Amino acid sequence: MSVLRLTCSPRGAESESHRLSQFVVDGLARADAARGRDLVEIDANRLPHVDAEYAWALGSPSDPDGDPAGSLHQSDRLIQSLADADYVVIATPMHNYTVPSALKVWIDHVVRVRSTFTVTREGKIGVLADKPVFVAVSSGGLFSGGEARQPDFLTPYLKVALATIGLKRLTFFSVEGTAMGGQALEAARLRTQAEIAAYFADAADTLAEVAVQAPRGGSLFSTDRP
Ligand SMILES: Cc1cc2nc3c(=O)[nH]c(=O)nc-3n(C[C@H](O)[C@H](O)[C@H](O)COP(=O)(O)O)c2cc1C
Repeated sequence: MSVLRLTCSPRGAESESHRLSQFVVDGLARADAARGRDLVEIDANRLPHVDAEYAWALGSPSDPDGDPAGSLHQSDRLIQSLADADYVVIATPMHNYTVPSALKVWIDHVVRVRSTFTVTREGKIGVLADKPVFVAVSSGGLFSGGEARQPDFLTPYLKVALATIGLKRLTFFSVEGTAMGGQALEAARLRTQAEIAAYFADAADTLAEVAVQAPRGGSLFSTDRP
């Protein structure tokens, strides 16, 4: 099985969200052990913003002729890696109530007209084969439950952005209140780790079955694959 993990914290592999995502990656490996594990890692902080050619192309009625360069090429590669994955794991902090800018950059590269969605009279229709997407979120304060004192634009935004391209099977896990530190943080970590363990204990059969049935992306572009 192929797992695509996107790490979005500026702290990379040292981050709370990356740490949390590892429990998901390990849970997937146990749940779908028969196929072995191929882990493709993307550090979203290394992705450049989309460039002018990309913006022109997306605003035009068709993509430019010839070999894509710059962001168009980067976008091709990122979309292909998404299409090739059986599972997607997104490790992200909450920044200013929503996704960090690095995750937004990745979204700008993969939510792309004519490539991952089409526009119809009824609205945008995703073209990627749906697959399980796990989102491991870390936040300094609480954003869910009765004690939350801030809005959450992260989860609803990600649901809409990824549904646009066909990915609708999102599961969120979060370690909230990291700013409290100490025992409160440790307790939050243990609670979420237990949630993840329970999820994969229950979901093992279904996940393996779904992943085997889901069609792989095939080659979506004529350029070199990552
Ligand atoms: C630029 C920035 C904005 C932040 N905004 C929020 C926020 O809106 N809500 C919140 O709860 N925490 C916020 N935080 C705190 C982080 O979400 C928190 O430290 C989190 O645990 C970081 O996870 P990481 O280690 O995966 O990067 C912000 C942190 C930074 C650096």
